[in-house]
Order: sequence, then structure tokens, then C-alpha cells
Amino acid sequence: MISALDEKTAAAREAIKHVKDGMLLGLGTGSTFEVFLGLLEKKIKAGLHVRGIPSSRRTEELAARAGVEIADEVRSGIDLDIDGTDEFDDRLFLIKGGGGALFREKIIASSSRKIIIIADSSKYNPIGIGRFPVPVEITPFHPELTIARFRSIGIDCVLRGSGNYVTDSGNLIADCSMGTIEDPVAMESALKAIPGVIEVGIFTGMDPVIYMGQGESVKVFQK
Ligand code: A5P
Repeated sequence: MISALDEKTAAAREAIKHVKDGMLLGLGTGSTFEVFLGLLEKKIKAGLHVRGIPSSRRTEELAARAGVEIADEVRSGIDLDIDGTDEFDDRLFLIKGGGGALFREKIIASSSRKIIIIADSSKYNPIGIGRFPVPVEITPFHPELTIARFRSIGIDCVLRGSGNYVTDSGNLIADCSMGTIEDPVAMESALKAIPGVIEVGIFTGMDPVIYMGQGESVKVFQK
């Protein structure tokens, strides 16, 4: 019986093949990324040297412990970003932020020369993203006003942890249920335009390579 962990591990094994000595890596957040980090740690112990930009405090702590040099400045972009996802589709659209790190994850992904997403097969939605409620990072200044603006365009959102969940950047997360998103690019822009929105967990235009563990094999999604 193949488990989700087996699929994550198979996907992470493909991702690690792209890591070369001296690279500056974007470091994602979440359980799938942490499987990758375990493989990276073994390579570091065997002599590999890489630097990394972590997308969360948790990742920073784990990556430093694994021997990744944490870079404090990025001068000429990030070589390779490795991250997980909450959902993806054939158009390579992603929903991210289930772990609350979407703001930093998007900055890192958009500054990376190559993006590799690793996932188990439960994350794939052939119908199109939207099954997973879209996490939206919003300012803590009167979040009820921002939530009301979402409602005015027909989107129901709830504050994560009833407003007690605070991101690494000191903001809140609104989880927005919207069903299958016909036009993720338009939805990302519409949400981003609402005052109070810091970042939206819909990732478009990133052209990632997605490795998805599926049973005993790995399926690749790319343009
Ligand atoms: C973190 O904010 C997210 O974007 C994660 O990448 C995503 O939630 C995937 O997490 P898991 O690998 O734990 O499912």
C-alpha cells in the first residue's frame, strides 16, 4: 500500500536531482517540503554546500539545522525554488498557503529562475483549482472590512483561527471558499485589488515544474 508520504518522497527524490553545489535555493514550507529537506540534509552531510532563503520561521529553523546556510541578502535572484502546494491543475495553477506562508512563498517563487513543486497525488485536481479554500493574507487592521469586501464580490471567507492565527509577517489569513475557479488569473487580480489584501494564495504565471508522486511512479507536469 503506497502512502502519501511515499508519494511525497518519490517527488522529492526527483526535485533533489536539480540541486547543484553552490546554488541559492528558495525554501518552501510544509510537510512535503520537509521531506525534501531530509534528502537535502543527507547531501549536505556528504559535502554539498547550498544557501537558502526560507519562506517561514519554521523552515528557517529546520533548514539551518539541516546545514543550509541561510542567506540574508539576494543579489541576483534565486537559482531554484522548491516548495509544496495545496492544490494544482493541468494549467499549472496552484493554491498555496495552507501552512500560512503564501506571502513569502510568492515573493520567493516570483524571484526564482526555476520553480519545482513537489506533491502527492491528493493535490492534483484535473477539473481545475478551487477545491481547497484559497488562503488570502490580509492586514490585521479591521479585517472585518476586508472580509466584507470579499463578500461584496460573492466570495465567502473566514478568518483562520477566528482571527487568532498570525502569519510570520504579522498578518491574518482569510480562507476563501469559491469552488472551481474558471479564471485563476482574473481571480488573483480581483482579490489582490481589494484594500487590505497583502497577498493571494492563487499562484499563476509561475511556470513551475510539478513532480507528483503517484503510486510507485512520479508524474511530471510542465509547459
Ligand atoms: C505553506 O504555506 C503552503 O503553501 C504549503 O506549501 C502547502 O500548504 C503544502 O503543504 P503540505 O506539503 O504540508 O501539504
